[in-house]
Amino acid sequence: MSKVLIVYYSLSGNTKYIAEVMRESINADLLELKPIKEINSDNSMKYFWGGFQAKMKKKPKLNPITINPLEYDLLVLGTPVWAWNFSPPMRSFLSLYDLAGKNVALWLCSGGGQGKAMEKFKNALKGSTIMGDIRFIDPLIHSPEENKTKAISWIQSIINHEK
Ligand SMILES: Cc1cc2nc3c(=O)[nH]c(=O)nc-3n(C[C@H](O)[C@H](O)[C@H](O)COP(=O)(O)O)c2cc1C
Repeated sequence: MSKVLIVYYSLSGNTKYIAEVMRESINADLLELKPIKEINSDNSMKYFWGGFQAKMKKKPKLNPITINPLEYDLLVLGTPVWAWNFSPPMRSFLSLYDLAGKNVALWLCSGGGQGKAMEKFKNALKGSTIMGDIRFIDPLIHSPEENKTKAISWIQSIINHEK
């Protein structure tokens, strides 16, 4: 049986929600990326600082990762869209591990306009085999139950395809 790791970053809970519903439906380990210096999620300055970090392709230092992601057969990677890109903590993660040759599946959470975020995410994973990709619009706010079903059927179809 293949080993699956769900890796995600979430500032306000949407991406975390999708990670957790998938984790409940499949046999997988969960890795939450946490920057050592997190931006303040409670005020509107988060768009400024977060957007700036994303635009500048910053790679904030993450809290130590105590498992080895390279030991897994499938990595399911999830991130919010920040300034039409994937988030800086996910960029940090991708710079720490060479996922070339690995099977990956990607999900994005956004408020609406994702721009080329998925394309950029995939470009950062050149050399990996992309088993699937999916997008959610603020799933915790808009129809969480519907998005739960969507996330579960997506991840299960990928796992079944892997077997
Ligand atoms: C710094 C920042 C930049 C964002 N930029 C975008 C964007 O370019 N396009 C978009 O559709 N949503 C954007 N959003 C909204 C988030 O992608 C969206 O609310 C997402 O569901 C949040 O995920 P989370 O709750 O896991 O942090 C941005 C949010 C933040 C905080």
